[in-house]
Amino acid sequence: MTSNELRKNFLDFFKENDHSVSPSASLIPEGDTSVLFNTAGMQPFKRFYLEPDLAPGARVTTSQKCIRTGDILEVGDNTHLTFFEMLGNFSFGYPAKQGSYFKKEAIEFAWKFLTEVLAVKPSRIYATYFAGDENISEDSESLAILKTIKDLHKIVPQGAEDNFWSLGTENSPGGPTVEFYIDNVEIWNLVFNEYIYQNGKYVPSQLKGVDTGMGFERLLASLNNFDNVYETDLLSPIISKIKEVAGSFHPFHEKDFRIIADHLKAALFLLNEGVLPANKDQGYIVRRLIRRAIIKLNGLGVRENVLKEIAQTVFTIYTGVYDFSIYTVLPELEKEEVRFRVTLASGLKLLQSKKVLTGQDLFDLYQSYGLPLEVSLEEAKNHHINIEENALDSYNELFKSHQELSRTASAGMFKGGLVGQSEQTTKYHTATHLLLAALRQVLGDGIHQKGANITDERIRFDFSYAEKMTPEQIQQVEDLVNEKIKADLQVSMQEMRLEDAQNCGAMGDFATKYGETVKVYSIGNYSTTEPPFSREICGGPHITNTGILGHFKIIKEESSSAGVRRIKAILE
Ligand code: SER
Repeated sequence: MTSNELRKNFLDFFKENDHSVSPSASLIPEGDTSVLFNTAGMQPFKRFYLEPDLAPGARVTTSQKCIRTGDILEVGDNTHLTFFEMLGNFSFGYPAKQGSYFKKEAIEFAWKFLTEVLAVKPSRIYATYFAGDENISEDSESLAILKTIKDLHKIVPQGAEDNFWSLGTENSPGGPTVEFYIDNVEIWNLVFNEYIYQNGKYVPSQLKGVDTGMGFERLLASLNNFDNVYETDLLSPIISKIKEVAGSFHPFHEKDFRIIADHLKAALFLLNEGVLPANKDQGYIVRRLIRRAIIKLNGLGVRENVLKEIAQTVFTIYTGVYDFSIYTVLPELEKEEVRFRVTLASGLKLLQSKKVLTGQDLFDLYQSYGLPLEVSLEEAKNHHINIEENALDSYNELFKSHQELSRTASAGMFKGGLVGQSEQTTKYHTATHLLLAALRQVLGDGIHQKGANITDERIRFDFSYAEKMTPEQIQQVEDLVNEKIKADLQVSMQEMRLEDAQNCGAMGDFATKYGETVKVYSIGNYSTTEPPFSREICGGPHITNTGILGHFKIIKEESSSAGVRRIKAILE
């Protein structure tokens, strides 16, 4: 059976049973910030359990797009996926609302659909129900209904962990469940919402409802006797394309093929809904998915940008089902791939040069090279690199204080001139330090910074100098900065007392009121007698090695005000 046939069979069956068919809601919950993504078919409908009159009808059915990221490290096994569809039938406002139904109908619909419409042999199926616990009594009603099904050979009682479903948020519906398994794989979860979660307790609700959810990809695999979801027509064409692009068909790489296929597909669906790669919230998930896929491709020896080509297979799979805005999705995908591949090799080189990774290393790998935490941990494991005890705690602390710094920066309260926090901005920030040091070497020690404005596209830098720079001087400054980039100098940071920072010749904006201790960033090696190429008091953040900056170019030199010149420069 194909995916399109199965989706249609499901929706048609419930349509014939008086359900209205609703299109899938967006992956991003509307008007609900309690979750980043829709993770279940009922999510867009949750208020209808409390206010059934708002529902489009007493009976609704959907195939809902879902994203779950909690199990991201399990992706690649036989059943876990980041993006999946959930087939569901729903009933609201039972018993008051006309046409609503509850346990009996829901269980009978499920059994009929599985055994008659899909013709799954009853011997492959068993069911579970809620056995009760100290707070909530056994769902004896469901047990009695299940017992009336002649061919159902096995009914298993289970605890709340398996057979009680709730979102766990205030005023959300919840209740006992009946689950159907095929060949021992959980396929369909029937939730009977007869409680409301209020003040930490489940309170019986007047109006009850049904929420069922069936994993579309899992069911499709079972029906076709595949032992994993990647063999279904929803994933296998992507895997074939990855094999072709990578030139590798080795079973040893099977898990990597699966992860790339899963992550790329999930990222495409999110990009299609306008979620762009970013450093927080949904955008960060897209970024992680794309980057993890690229790292796996890189591990397979694929060094070129290939995601756009593989993406075409995803669009083909969903032709006529979901529309993709290809002309906006593909450029965004490509941009992220190009951007990440530039730093990936240096990041992996740095990682592999370590014997032990500290929290600071993990943070630098994330901040300067764009390696998401779980990617660094995975790579470390592959290369037998130890993780220092407490590294995760210190990573989290650094991450948090970096976020606070960025917040201050974007509130315009940060004195270092750095507003914004993208990796590109961070690179420009380090390049600005190189520029000041180069200007001082070429034009003399009288040069001081008078202002800086950095975006992720350019530097605008003001400095004290009375004359127009000659073309030769501009060239010399540019060459010197590029020489320091090529030398791949290390950028290091030390915290020290302000007085010590001034004594060791650190540049600073002395109109700024610094605290008692300051951060001093040095670029290049130094000793007690030999200063580094650049040394500045600065809040950061910075990249860790200059080698990744690319090529530095001064695009304009002009007057800013009396005695102050202005340079605009880019990294290319
Ligand atoms: N809400 C339940 C689940 O996600 C059934 O749809 O499993």
